[in-house]
Amino acid sequence: MPRAELYLHSVPVNTNTEIRSARMEDLEKVAQLENRVWRELGASQDDLRRRFFVFPQGFFLAVAGPDLLGFCCSLLTDTDARLAALNETFPPRHIPRGDYFFLFGLTVDPLFRRKGIARHLVAEELALAGKLGCRKVQLIANALSRPLFEKAGLSVVRASDELFAQHRDLMPEPVLMEKVLK
Ligand SMILES: CC(C)(COP(=O)(O)OP(=O)(O)OC[C@H]1O[C@@H](n2cnc3c(N)ncnc32)[C@H](O)[C@@H]1OP(=O)(O)O)[C@@H](O)C(=O)NCCC(=O)NCCS
Repeated sequence: MPRAELYLHSVPVNTNTEIRSARMEDLEKVAQLENRVWRELGASQDDLRRRFFVFPQGFFLAVAGPDLLGFCCSLLTDTDARLAALNETFPPRHIPRGDYFFLFGLTVDPLFRRKGIARHLVAEELALAGKLGCRKVQLIANALSRPLFEKAGLSVVRASDELFAQHRDLMPEPVLMEKVLK
């Protein structure tokens, strides 16, 4: 499928909740949730806007009417994270023809956790990676998200204790995970 045609996607989760592509006007609410959950690690609204502009197809929201329940982002890159020295800004930039799909920023409002919202967001990201013909999906998980990524078919490549060392409350036990798609 041509990459430009994947924009504006929407999937119902249940009668109240849907997973859909982010829109420019959503970014203020995204920034509010981002900063509430990630505190000192939270991206600014400008960072979120940049994320949105470089790869809008990979920016998914979980919404119930006007309420934002969660979101997830991704980028394409030409670097296999398995072979890279990771730092907190990996991947450095979006490479539109990149073969590696890097998922990041998975966040669900604490009031709506354990209802399958992250599972649905991740399923959309994995489906997108498959449609784009990517070779691998890679990400940095933590102790909270690792079980759900394992259920989605990703495996741990290695511990990444060098990452977020000052923020263990927000990123406990970081690990590099991947799913090989082809
Ligand atoms: C991690 C997070 C995104 C999970 O969101 P969620 O919507 O509650 O997750 P889901 O309901 O889709 O969970 C799906 C499965 O993942 C596993 N899971 C989710 N949260 C878990 C937790 N805190 N502990 C253990 N397993 C968990 C469970 O197997 C769950 O299935 P179950 O509820 O049927 O047992 C959410 O806790 C969050 O936003 N945390 C703070 C930000 C963060 O750390 N993000 C991860 C970045 S890598």
